Amino acid sequence: MSYAKIEIAPSILASNFAKLGDEIRAVEQGGADVIHVDVMDGHFVPNISIGIPVVASLRKATRLPLDVHLMIDRPEKYIEGFVRAGASRLLVHQEATVHLDRALTMIRELGAEAGAAINPATPVAMLSDVLGKVDTVLVMSVNPGFGGQKFIPGAIEKIRQLNEWRARYNGSFRIEVDGGVDTGNVGELAQAGANTFVAGTSIFHTPDPAAAARQIRKLATDALS
Ligand code: DX5
Ligand code: ZN
Repeated sequence: MSYAKIEIAPSILASNFAKLGDEIRAVEQGGADVIHVDVMDGHFVPNISIGIPVVASLRKATRLPLDVHLMIDRPEKYIEGFVRAGASRLLVHQEATVHLDRALTMIRELGAEAGAAINPATPVAMLSDVLGKVDTVLVMSVNPGFGGQKFIPGAIEKIRQLNEWRARYNGSFRIEVDGGVDTGNVGELAQAGANTFVAGTSIFHTPDPAAAARQIRKLATDALS
């Protein structure tokens, strides 16, 4: 197995953008493994967030890997720009491109890790032909576009299915879950087979983000022991 069993990925979408450097230092102290960066274009999702210049600034502000979640149409047009800006991992949505295989190959050829993401309405089977070409599969547990939404429980069964396929075919991709992850569901998600836990609201909208990150990791780790 080449991936970490548990990774905590705070989503800066829920942070105070006016104090981004401080927010990142806080979750670094809380043992965050990667920083999750949500890029939205106002087309693929009904919201606009941040883009390539912010990723370039983040690259200078932390040594942690940047997990860049592209919620944009035709992601292939921007892959090179994001990798050059410092994205360590680039996640593209299956629904956003008719050339998913090409997009994933491009990411790896540029030297970053490639991830494929699926919306709540997209079955895991849509990724069956690319599972050998991804470092991460991202299961959305909310409809992408906003932080602070309610967890959609159907994600758990998808994670179980991916975990089963991974075991059966000796796969080496990590399973990431994004949306509504908190202390109440992280244990069950870990048991289902998730490895990377994206958490925005449940980390940054607390009085002590470092402690919140630590607590989420503890609950995920405890659930596996
Ligand atoms: C939603 C984003 C998520 C979001 C998660 O479109 O992809 O990464 O920041 O936020 P919470 O943890 O608040 O659901
Ligand atoms: Zn995200």
